[in-house]
Amino acid sequence: MSVNWVLPFDEKLYPEGCKIVEPEAYVKMHESTVKDYKNFWAGIAKELSWYRPWKEILDESNPPFYKWFVGGELNACYLCVDRHAKGSRKDKVALIWEGEPYANGMPKEVRKFTYGDLYTEVNKVAYMLRNTYGLKRGDMIGIYMPMIPELPIVMLAASRIGVAFTVVFSGFGEESITERMNDAEAKLIVTADGGWRAGKIIQLKKIVDEVLEKAASVKGVLVVKRVDCEIDMVQPRDRWYHEELAKVPEGAYVEPERMKSEDPIYVLYTSGTTGKPKGQVHDTGGYMTILHATMNWVFDVNEEDIYWCTADIGWVTGHSYLAYGPLLEGMTEVMYEGSPSYPEPDRWASIIERHKVSVLYTSPTAIRSWMKFGDEFVNRHDTSSVRLMHSVGEPINPEAFKWFYRTVGRNRVVFGSTWWMTETGGIMISHIPGKAIVPMKPGTNGLPILGIDADVFDENGNPQKIGDRGYLVIKQPWPGMPLTIYKNPGRYKEVYFSKFLGSYYAGDYAVKDRDGYFWILGRADEVIKVAGHGLGTYELESAIVNHSDVAEAAVVGVPDDIKGEVPVAFVILKVGNEPSDELRRDINSIVRDKIGHIASLKEVYFVTRLPKTRSGKIMRRVIKAVLTDKPVGNLATLEDEASIDEVKKAYSELRQELSRKPT
Ligand code: PRX
Repeated sequence: MSVNWVLPFDEKLYPEGCKIVEPEAYVKMHESTVKDYKNFWAGIAKELSWYRPWKEILDESNPPFYKWFVGGELNACYLCVDRHAKGSRKDKVALIWEGEPYANGMPKEVRKFTYGDLYTEVNKVAYMLRNTYGLKRGDMIGIYMPMIPELPIVMLAASRIGVAFTVVFSGFGEESITERMNDAEAKLIVTADGGWRAGKIIQLKKIVDEVLEKAASVKGVLVVKRVDCEIDMVQPRDRWYHEELAKVPEGAYVEPERMKSEDPIYVLYTSGTTGKPKGQVHDTGGYMTILHATMNWVFDVNEEDIYWCTADIGWVTGHSYLAYGPLLEGMTEVMYEGSPSYPEPDRWASIIERHKVSVLYTSPTAIRSWMKFGDEFVNRHDTSSVRLMHSVGEPINPEAFKWFYRTVGRNRVVFGSTWWMTETGGIMISHIPGKAIVPMKPGTNGLPILGIDADVFDENGNPQKIGDRGYLVIKQPWPGMPLTIYKNPGRYKEVYFSKFLGSYYAGDYAVKDRDGYFWILGRADEVIKVAGHGLGTYELESAIVNHSDVAEAAVVGVPDDIKGEVPVAFVILKVGNEPSDELRRDINSIVRDKIGHIASLKEVYFVTRLPKTRSGKIMRRVIKAVLTDKPVGNLATLEDEASIDEVKKAYSELRQELSRKPT
């Protein structure tokens, strides 16, 4: 059954001073790149520097395990650092880092690295990783760090010596890290004593200490001193980063490894609806190619730009469009350590003003929380340096779009919502899908970039009608796609390539409008997007059932004005236990400890049964419908109708209780 969908806001906007390509003309241009996509992408890849050219553009012998630019050799660190440091950009600033602590109207710390400085640093760190830890090509390390310059430097240094890594977001808790370290079999964890967030110290090394008890592969911990808090250092396992660097000879140089195009650059975990997180393995050659293309097409790189991606490197946006993409293009970029509203909600506007940011990449959640404080905090600063902005991570509601466009964008800049995912490696759908600026439509994602064959399918795998909701797919391989799911190729095939044979299934609902624009509507599976970060219902439920009084749990996402979505839990207690507020708090603190603060439950409801299918699967869509006052839909597979009444009762009772409590 198709669901007809009404455009929430079908207005076209034309950014000032840009050459506009009407969608029809773009679609024609796009068609030719999709038809001959292999040669098209080879043409882009040639613009990078390769030690050795590829023999075959695309190895399709074992679908869906595609390999791009087979036979080619390159090194990501060389491309992002050496090329510029050895050439005319040696003294150009690569990275402007701003720490969170603030006093007298100014940040206490701003550190700048030229490409020459970055070159010296990555060589030193690469030398240390190799000599102190004996790390070599093919090894894997874990990284759990705050947003400090050492984070991208360690990533680049690892790439230099062919070591793959997995970064774990510094807001994640012990269980999330342990699971990832064990799956990745990381040999070393690079961390910091702590990090700053909203004026508070987040203890990182302490959490790593807990992880070490359960992660046997990890033999060493390298610790950056960031906040100077008290921590335990167990010798010889734990070492200070600055002490180890001091041992590296002056002017150390480490020859970049000549990586095969299909060698993994990193593994980044995404949350699923069932089972443990999926380690998305990205290659080197295809990944560099998609970054090179999209940096130029979507961010319209100019030599004098000051680029700022506000994402945390713990997520894919920070990998692709902070740690690698801008440096690949020799840009000057800003990196900020802390909270957007510290010490006041004008912090981001002040960063834009002080560093004269011209290209801004941010998220709907950030925009909405900014909007909540009102225009005043933007107007305190001159943001007129911004010429182009994009958001990512979740659908942007037209209201937030229009607010941001009017305030920071002064009603004239390019502003789009780029669609992509951890799996795709780089941006796939955008309003500047290839230096061709199509008219902007608030709330949409725009059109597929050149060379990307995206479509919306109906349930049977046929192209969906214009204006009807369907499933987003990508019909041909693209550079930057995953090589596989780490140690689980079967799952890779099943999750992404079994719903529609031959096409990549993104797991998102989407609509195509009459201009060919894509509107991504949200997840079709049960991944909850909290502030743009995907959390699997399964992970949350597994954390909750760790509580000794809990028998079973179901988690669903409910709409939230700022964060887009937040999780709520329905919990069945073991016999003999009574619901209480204390239990609610305990359950929530388990979730925060194990998964992290982003996973905080908005509410915990106690029930004695849950809506399930006859085969025992929890029907989360039914629970969600009750919570959002929507029709519960088809109940043919429901085992026990009374369970819905229980959900309704628990919901209304808690509502009443909360309304009685003083705020
Ligand atoms: O649901 C889509 C949503 O984010 C999902 C991917 O999440 P993740 O792997 O964490 O990567 C996020 C950053 C690239 C997608 O399946 N999503 C991402 N960008 C958008 C979006 N939904 C709507 N509009 C977007 N611009």
